[in-house]
Amino acid sequence: MKRLRNRRISDTETVVERRPISNGVKRLGVNIDHIATLRQLRKGTYPDPVKAARVVERAGADGIVAHLREDRRHINDNDLKRLKESVTTHLNLEMSIDPEIVAIAIKTKPEQATLVPEKRAELTTEGGLDIISLKLKVRNVIDKLKDSGIKVSLFIEPDICQIDMAKEINANAIELHTGRYANAAAKEKNKELAQIKKSARFAAEIGLAVFAGHGLDYENVTPIVNIPEVEELNIGYSIITRAVFVGLENAVKEMLGLINPR
Ligand code: PXP
Repeated sequence: MKRLRNRRISDTETVVERRPISNGVKRLGVNIDHIATLRQLRKGTYPDPVKAARVVERAGADGIVAHLREDRRHINDNDLKRLKESVTTHLNLEMSIDPEIVAIAIKTKPEQATLVPEKRAELTTEGGLDIISLKLKVRNVIDKLKDSGIKVSLFIEPDICQIDMAKEINANAIELHTGRYANAAAKEKNKELAQIKKSARFAAEIGLAVFAGHGLDYENVTPIVNIPEVEELNIGYSIITRAVFVGLENAVKEMLGLINPR
């Protein structure tokens, strides 16, 4: 069942919006890349990330996140095609600004694209995309994706100048990188959290939708959930690894319970 509906955000632009957040309800997007990472260990067909996406949706998540990396280390082109056919909630394609990947996104037409930096040697995405130094390239990609009806979110550091630039180059949303907060030693955590709060407030004030993600887990997610401007959390590793012990459906439900406590 699709939770999509259209919302006018300005006189000139219509964006796709999902579950309304006016009552403070937050959305959870689950990143299923690491189901494919497990499959790639044996280069077979099991476990299938598309089947995992169905379980995640059945558990109540609001969307599926998948990163088609340039090196195809986990999600591959066929996974993405099958996810597009199968996902009934909201497909968020994490992607670099590489022209080959942009062309695939335009052909696939996920509901949303999240632009991220990508380095071949990294274990996972390291830090936000520097949209100030990449301004022209990123703006060009945003224009192309939006022309194809894809909503664009930029994964950036919680930094006022980066957020200002996201607005200037017409992103629909930003995803604040929470990795530094997640990895900070106890005495640094509040400083990182304060920066995320300030950034979220500023972004919402200038009309950007605010998402957050990276490194969030069952222990550290609540302070991020408590930031009123954060509409959506995108979480992968902690949920997929928790699934080893409690099953995927339960792992998603436990996270949903933290994101929208009764
Ligand atoms: N959001 C973005 C933009 C990401 O790149 C990632 C990692 O793929 C995530 C969220 C999820 O991060 P984690 O797997 O640490 O929960």
